[in-house]
Amino acid sequence: MATNIDSQNVENKTSQTNDFLPLLGTDYVELYVGNAKQSAYYYQTAWGFQPIAYSGLETGRKDQVSYVLEQDKIRLVLTSPLEPNGPVNEHINAHGDGVKVVALWVDNATKSFEETVKRGAKPYMEPTTEEDEFGTVVRSGIHTYGETVHIFVERKNYKGAFLPGYKAWDKPYTTKDNGLKYIDHMVGNVGWNEMNTWCEFYAKVMGFAQLVSFDDKDISTEYTALMSKVMSNGNGRIKFPINEPAEGRKKSQIEEYIDFYNGAGVQHMALATDNIIETVTGLIDRGVEFLTVPSSYYDTVLDRVGEIDEDLEPLKKLGILIDRDDEGYLLQIFTKPVLDRPTMFFEIIQRKGAQSFGKGNFKALFEAIEREQEQRGTL
Ligand code: FE2
Repeated sequence: MATNIDSQNVENKTSQTNDFLPLLGTDYVELYVGNAKQSAYYYQTAWGFQPIAYSGLETGRKDQVSYVLEQDKIRLVLTSPLEPNGPVNEHINAHGDGVKVVALWVDNATKSFEETVKRGAKPYMEPTTEEDEFGTVVRSGIHTYGETVHIFVERKNYKGAFLPGYKAWDKPYTTKDNGLKYIDHMVGNVGWNEMNTWCEFYAKVMGFAQLVSFDDKDISTEYTALMSKVMSNGNGRIKFPINEPAEGRKKSQIEEYIDFYNGAGVQHMALATDNIIETVTGLIDRGVEFLTVPSSYYDTVLDRVGEIDEDLEPLKKLGILIDRDDEGYLLQIFTKPVLDRPTMFFEIIQRKGAQSFGKGNFKALFEAIEREQEQRGTL
């Protein structure tokens, strides 16, 4: 036992030394939205996020308002403008509601900025120290695909609710959480022929390595196709698949996204749970809508994936998909877009050993998306 632990420590130390950008996890995801108050209510009520911090007129902030919500390790920030013009307004005008910031938790935000900018990152925010009675936070930021940015957050000297400038949000209304644990991966959609550019960005600028790649033969139906590569940081805590459209007979979901989002952006966040049946039952009860596959999917799925711990019946009833790789299996399901524009959606995932992304479900899933596109007239 002791030997195992020692060798693991050595392994971790080695990867840490070579890693010029050690990432501790996702710190928060910030969406720019048209009406943060009502979005916050949606994520609380339907998704079971808990209110933790607030910044706005009552805290002395005059230009924008932000609500911070949390469920286990997942932290969402919802921001709306309070004035007619400004960067948040422009973002919403161009993209509709969407993810602006994928913030990464680091030990040293200044070094993270220097190391990435030195390797070619375009600066978004110079290292900035913010302070209040609860301590100090250092943040810095760089641009990534589209108008999305990464902010590095160093919070080891901070004890407050979220960041300086925010106050704890004591709301009498709370909802039961829905068993969502952490962000498993976050997917970016980029334009034609841009996938490799952005994968190289994550490799060169942020020191990520490529885990897997899928080409249009892996991910195509009779009508549409896309390509995807998965980039991961050194300790595997951050995984960013990058998709680009591929030629098909009809318009792929990635093109539809790019058209409506007006460029590259975050397509989906995969949220992990330890009990997908309970989580998805809870979400459906509270009105979250999921994509469904034909019930024939379940006639043959066990031939493909073998034995699983769960009964098939509840999975079939909820529309949960199953896939297996060399290391185990996974259960997953995808929501319909959660915004008016057919852009961002969520995945709920439960991993039972498998470290992959559900390749065996791509075809059934993309056919389900095509049925939705057909209804929107965007196929
Ligand atoms: Fe995913």
